[in-house]
Amino acid sequence: MIREILRMGDARLLRQSRPVEHFASASLDELVADMIDTMHHHDGAGLAAPQIGVDLRVVVFGGGPTPRYPDADVVPFTVLCNPEIAIIGEEQEEGWEGCLSVPGLRGVVPRWQRLHYAGFDATGQRIERTAEGFHARVVQHECDHLDGFLYLMRIRDFRSFGFTDVLNLPPMQD
Ligand code: NI
Repeated sequence: MIREILRMGDARLLRQSRPVEHFASASLDELVADMIDTMHHHDGAGLAAPQIGVDLRVVVFGGGPTPRYPDADVVPFTVLCNPEIAIIGEEQEEGWEGCLSVPGLRGVVPRWQRLHYAGFDATGQRIERTAEGFHARVVQHECDHLDGFLYLMRIRDFRSFGFTDVLNLPPMQD
């Protein structure tokens, strides 16, 4: 089911979300299915549970290029619960981001270039991966939602921030 996406200003986007305790449950399956439906409906690169008002540490992302960001590296379609991120190296990279909770805007955000992430899928199966570039950026953006951070809070230079239609950029990450 496509769910309503909370927009910036809603206090539920600022919460620290709780870890998933029970895997392979009907309620977790339903949450994940709704998140995937909602992400696909909006051609998003990813979605975090808090964006539909659920304070659980669950994110979905990836699945390849969509009309919104056709040139993005292919990110594997992933359901990730209770994610942990370990940064690799000290290199950061600037890149354009948007967010379905902040519609119509884009900004340049510095992110770690390379990282290792781990967690569980909805069945409780362990996931461990190394990611870089756009893949690593999506992971950081979505996992930030679980700690109440929106991408705007990471922007250093607000001269590279504005309305998508005014910036005249190609479609980018949401
Ligand atoms: Ni977002």
